[in-house]
Amino acid sequence: MTSVWAVVPAAGSGRRMAAEVPKQYLTVAGASLLEHTLRALLASPQIRGVVVVMDPSDRRADQIASLSDPRVFTAAGGDERADSVLAGLQYLQSMARDDDWVLVHDAARPCLPIAALTGFINQVLADQRGAILAQPVTDTIKRCSESGLVLETLDRNQLWRAQTPQMFGVQALREALKAAIQSGASITDEAAAMSLAGYPVQIIAGPACNVKVTVPEDLKLAELYLKSLHAGH
Ligand code: CTP
Ligand code: MG
Repeated sequence: MTSVWAVVPAAGSGRRMAAEVPKQYLTVAGASLLEHTLRALLASPQIRGVVVVMDPSDRRADQIASLSDPRVFTAAGGDERADSVLAGLQYLQSMARDDDWVLVHDAARPCLPIAALTGFINQVLADQRGAILAQPVTDTIKRCSESGLVLETLDRNQLWRAQTPQMFGVQALREALKAAIQSGASITDEAAAMSLAGYPVQIIAGPACNVKVTVPEDLKLAELYLKSLHAGH
């Protein structure tokens, strides 16, 4: 039986949020973003263990209660998100088999509903193919010049906004990320590394509430979604 593991990159500094602390430690709806994210993952009994990748000098982590859960482990992060995810995968080598599955989920996406998580895991296991949650683009999308002139309108029927979780085979993802980092390619998600390595990546529709908290305006949205999730809606 293969197991499902999770890696949570949480070693960023939150430059775009420009808060006093890295955004994963900001409190929203009664808990830090990282705490909400860990609770969302720990709600799934299908996940055997969660590796949280953090800045090791960060003492704020001591206040995150879910880090003491027996299913949670910590590893030290790197300069870029891809380096942090790779560090988490390398930590996993002591526990996971190469043919196990791993889902990578950003600490900055605290509003993942358990139904979406369960549906995602079950579909990947049924298809035995790596996949990401994503949302179809509904806006009309323009490609523009640096001076702000519209160059063209893209066909939105082919465009999706990638979310996390993104789930792949442990060894396949580790090797793909290593190769992508070595090649110097700019990798902002796991799917990019897997595509570069030649693997197919399946899209699974994710919920609109699964927002990434990036800039201050996103906090309000996350708070609304967290409150409604906790209210059982
Ligand atoms: N992350 C990480 N290690 C890094 C950079 C990012 O673990 N070196 C994590 C962040 O903590 C976050 C996730 O990757 O949970 C997504 O990254 P992003 O939203 O870009 O967060 P930050 O890099 O912290 O924000 P910014 O880019 O605005 O500085
Ligand atoms: Mg970043």
